[in-house]
Amino acid sequence: MAERVIVHEVGLRDGLQNQPRMVPVEGKLELLDALIAAGVRSVEATSFVSPKAVPQMADAAELYARIPKRADMNYEVLVPNEKGYERAVAAGARTIAVVIAASDTFNRRNINMSLDEATLVCEAVVRRTKREGHRSRAYISALAACPYEGVTPPERVFDLTAKMFDAGADEVALSDTIGAGNPAQIEYLFESAIRRHGAQRIAAHFHDTRAMGLTLAWCAIKAGVRKLDSSIGGLGGCPFAPGASGNLATEDLVFMLNEAGYETGIDVEGLRRAVMIAERLTGQSFGGRMTNFFRAQDARRQAKAKAS
Ligand code: HMG
Ligand code: MG
Repeated sequence: MAERVIVHEVGLRDGLQNQPRMVPVEGKLELLDALIAAGVRSVEATSFVSPKAVPQMADAAELYARIPKRADMNYEVLVPNEKGYERAVAAGARTIAVVIAASDTFNRRNINMSLDEATLVCEAVVRRTKREGHRSRAYISALAACPYEGVTPPERVFDLTAKMFDAGADEVALSDTIGAGNPAQIEYLFESAIRRHGAQRIAAHFHDTRAMGLTLAWCAIKAGVRKLDSSIGGLGGCPFAPGASGNLATEDLVFMLNEAGYETGIDVEGLRRAVMIAERLTGQSFGGRMTNFFRAQDARRQAKAKAS
């Protein structure tokens, strides 16, 4: 039987958070429906952050109340602090993601906390999440490099990962915020983290800034990772990380995994519909590295239909 890999869709949060055009709740729900129809079952639905910091996420509570609650869907939400946790739980969220950067400056720019403050706040939220019977994920961002401080010392990543597990996190998502990683570095980071904490508890989150997204995803798979984040159409990027462009595109990741014989449960053709919806909602052109291939395939099909 094919081995299962969870493709965790972050387009509704990481994907949209940087978009200048406000996408209404109805539009987000339409995109979510298309993703679910394509077979996506794991989604980061939104973030309960300051609406002043990220206006696109101001509708978090309303959106969460209206997402289709299905037994086979896993929804996560991101929170930056206890206030976000309380808002998220009040809205019905049961899997909570905290975010800490392995760099002092990036924490200050992203969540207005020093590295030490961010560590304490994330530990407190993770402990509370566990105490109150919910699940938690901790993002360790700036995995490979920080946009302000340069290359991240691996020991800092390992230290923060251990702290988040000690606090009770169910999962740590090692996150290459600005797509700065190279294969050798990513192999080393994931192999080391998995040796210490086990493959089931380490997820991977890549941005495709330097065209390395798929390569790094494959390195993570080879290291043993079985849960990877991606964003429909490659939408996304952190507004507080200069140079952070889109996430690894879901359609590219799913295509690679399906072709390599892993079981994702997701249909690439269904994802193409979701990309079109994302384009309409944001007024921008998206699509992963498969886009040109898909367009050429469509043109060939149309030409054949016309000729017959
Ligand atoms: P601050 O200004 O220092 O916060 O922002 P504060 O505690 O001084 O509060 C200021 C105001 O915000 C107050 O309201 C608070 O009540 C309110 P006022 O009195 O002015 O009316 N506030 C909140 N409102 C709603 N929800 C909350 C909340 N907390 C405070 N949770 C803060 C600090 C953390 C709030 C802010 O900087 C923030 O929200 N940052 C979020 C930044 C963000 O969303 N970044 C993107 C996500 S991380 C990412 O993309 C990386 C990732 O994808 C992985 C990777 O790629 O590496 C995960
Ligand atoms: Mg990200």
